[in-house]
Amino acid sequence: DLPARVRIHEVGARDGLQNEKSTVPTEVKAEFIRRLADAGLTTIEATSFVHPKWVPQLADAEQLFPLVRDLPGVHLPVLVPNGRGLDRALALDANRVAVFASATESFAKANLNRTVDESLAVFAPVVARAKEEGAHVRGYLSMCFGDPWEGAVPIAQVVRVCRALVDMGCDELSLGDTIGVATPGHVLELLAALNEQHVPTDLLGVHFHDTYGQALANTLAALQHGVTTVDASAGGLGGCPFAKSATGNLATEDLVWMLQGLGIDSGVDLDRLTATSVWMAEQLGRPSPSRTVRALGKT
Ligand code: HMG
Ligand code: MG
Repeated sequence: DLPARVRIHEVGARDGLQNEKSTVPTEVKAEFIRRLADAGLTTIEATSFVHPKWVPQLADAEQLFPLVRDLPGVHLPVLVPNGRGLDRALALDANRVAVFASATESFAKANLNRTVDESLAVFAPVVARAKEEGAHVRGYLSMCFGDPWEGAVPIAQVVRVCRALVDMGCDELSLGDTIGVATPGHVLELLAALNEQHVPTDLLGVHFHDTYGQALANTLAALQHGVTTVDASAGGLGGCPFAKSATGNLATEDLVWMLQGLGIDSGVDLDRLTATSVWMAEQLGRPSPSRTVRALGKT
């Protein structure tokens, strides 16, 4: 059975733009977020309060966030890697934050400069304090399927870190296929294993990168399992600068096209969204990799 409604967690402004070579002006980012909201997206990840040397592209978080903070009817989650990041987010009245863990040691080191358990020890007080402050907390888990250094990732290893994120109080989890190697059978296997370990499906979102063109097939498998939160990036922007071979996320337009065909409501206006991605592609100076944007936007 498929869900009647899917909540799209739009990551283009964060996962998409963190990876751009050219510097995107703060005002262009703000306009991108406004246009995404105007297209009907209600959860738009805005930026990251990470170390500016690690992710220079998002070093303007303090300038950007206040420009979009008061958009009506829109949640604007931000990434926080540690207590310092949470301080910065709370100082600007952010009320949705995300911590980001890794299922593998290689990526924990590359992305957070910590072991998996060291990073969990950093996150626990961050999650507790965010919740005390009334914030909603998402827990990302990267490398849930495969890792560029370690290869296939054992499911038990993924389940262990998911369990830790749930136990520390995360309100939702996002299962990341950071380098886009998952296939639908593997997705269903992980979702079933999580359910067996008492991680309920309604806590789970899926976050697929489209490296091997499997993101939409993987999403459909997750929907059939009962997942109703899907991460996607307008125009298929994205990747991770700390994971070689990561390409863009599942394109939001490709997702909305499929959902529309299935009669699943997402609240998104596909024409407005496509126009936004065409506009953003012009800002970035290259065409969108999304098949749907190319078909509908004639770019
Ligand atoms: P570190 O070098 O170990 O930091 O980096 P530290 O804790 O040793 O601190 C060193 C200095 O940095 C200190 O300053 C801190 O105050 C400062 P000093 O005292 O030396 O003057 N500092 C900060 N400054 C500003 N904001 C902060 C902050 N934290 C420390 N938040 C750290 C550790 C976590 C900071 C670093 O590794 C980092 O920023 N990593 C971010 C990596 C990142 O953003 N990756 C991309 C997002 S994850 C992703 O894309 C995957 C996802 O999409 C899901 C998927 O696809 O799988 C979510
Ligand atoms: Mg990602």
